[in-house]
Amino acid sequence: MPGIVIVGAQWGDEGKGKVTDMLAERADVIVRFQGGNNAGHTIVREGVTYKLHLMPSGILHPGKLCVIGNGVVIDPKVLTDELDELRHRGIDTRALRISANAHLIMPYHMMLDEAGEAKLGKLQIGTTRRGIGPSYADKASRLGIRMQDLLDEKILKKKIVAALEPKRLSLRPFAKDPALDLQSMTDEYLTYGHVLEPYIADTSRLVLDRLDHGEMVVFEGAQGALLDIDHGTYPFVTSSNPVAGAACTGAGVGPRDIDEVWGVAKAYTTRVGAGPFPTELDGDLADEIRERGGEYGTTTGRARRVGWIDLVALRYAARLNSLTSLAITKLDVLSGFDTLHACVRYHSAEGAELDGFPYHQTVLHHATGEYAELPGFDEDISGCRSESELPATAREFLRFIADYVGVAIVLVGVGPGREQVIWMDGAESSAVRLAA
Ligand code: GDP
Ligand code: IMO
Ligand code: MG
Repeated sequence: MPGIVIVGAQWGDEGKGKVTDMLAERADVIVRFQGGNNAGHTIVREGVTYKLHLMPSGILHPGKLCVIGNGVVIDPKVLTDELDELRHRGIDTRALRISANAHLIMPYHMMLDEAGEAKLGKLQIGTTRRGIGPSYADKASRLGIRMQDLLDEKILKKKIVAALEPKRLSLRPFAKDPALDLQSMTDEYLTYGHVLEPYIADTSRLVLDRLDHGEMVVFEGAQGALLDIDHGTYPFVTSSNPVAGAACTGAGVGPRDIDEVWGVAKAYTTRVGAGPFPTELDGDLADEIRERGGEYGTTTGRARRVGWIDLVALRYAARLNSLTSLAITKLDVLSGFDTLHACVRYHSAEGAELDGFPYHQTVLHHATGEYAELPGFDEDISGCRSESELPATAREFLRFIADYVGVAIVLVGVGPGREQVIWMDGAESSAVRLAA
């Protein structure tokens, strides 16, 4: 103990990578527990940027055990490329361990993702086209191929044949694609197996042993609560559960192994891909926030949709995750606005006032925000390192968020750099702070 879960509390890209990297300094083990290389987690260390897609964001800290848990779907090409790139940049990756039970993304998963989106036309979800949904679908259909299958040619081939069988019709447009050839696919994946074998392990056991020894384990989520397949804005969601409960199933630990749950949220909101977004802005204001915040996807480079902070959605995320703490990132981006807006209520198309996050998709699609207006700040806060250095209006904005959501803010981001954070006064009781 302790186990600390870091989750996205919005629609992803909240800055989980940066927060995880920061906590990794104090932690012993860092575990990714769901999602795949749809994630893009950015860490800026001494001016150098690292964009991680599958690698846990603790990898920049030498010797810390980094685990890719069973709940993650792994594209082995992306993983081996990421390993190569990190090694090339002088990062020691030997402390990585990959769950033998993690499922793989196969070439046909990417084709099906692409084809599925094309078929949806105007209704498309705007997936990352990385094969995430089809891979999780095969896992649920018990047609998935797992990390351990890469170590046995006969099993691997048999499983590929079984997985391809029910997909024959949908894969017909790709019939001539050499990536679908059974033998070359098997050979390619056996090669990945060969490269990754030293990392494959019973990671659930490893993590539990570390917890039993009193070590600190950080569970790093990908995506965010509103992209959750059960609780998010379905069908405009990802195909896994990015909420904290999934840390248990995706890492192989129990609920009693979790001591704190940190939700990461931007001081405003962004979303990539389609789907409802009640506080979305357009026009000059949106462009300004997007440019200032560098809001372009880490994985796909797509411009992120932007809007004011949505406290109705954030309170919903706090509930779903039983958040113990909030980390608010990118407060620096809001410097220079006369007035800051925070959505405190939705209005339905019929004019009803909604204080909670509506369960009905149609209601959410037409919901518009009612805003509290708070005074802005002009100062450049990127050099602030303590709560008292922040302008009074910035502190008031943070207090408003914490009061509304009912969760203490422990950390505030004032720039992309690893050191550009403020530990808030309320963080004193956090296990992470105590370990400092
Ligand atoms: P993740 O997917 O949640 O890890 O977030 P991303 O890495 O996709 O997107 C967050 C972006 O914001 C990255 O470019 C980070 O370097 C950057 N970032 C994180 N925290 C801060 C902050 O407090 N201020 C600023 N200006 N940028 C930040
Ligand atoms: P991180 O971990 C933001 C979005 C996609 C799309 C939807 C489904 O960096 O926060 P998928 O490829 O998962 O089937 O796409 O989910 N999405 C993300 N948006 N950040 C992410 O990850 C995302 N991962 C998936 O844009 O709308
Ligand atoms: Mg991201």
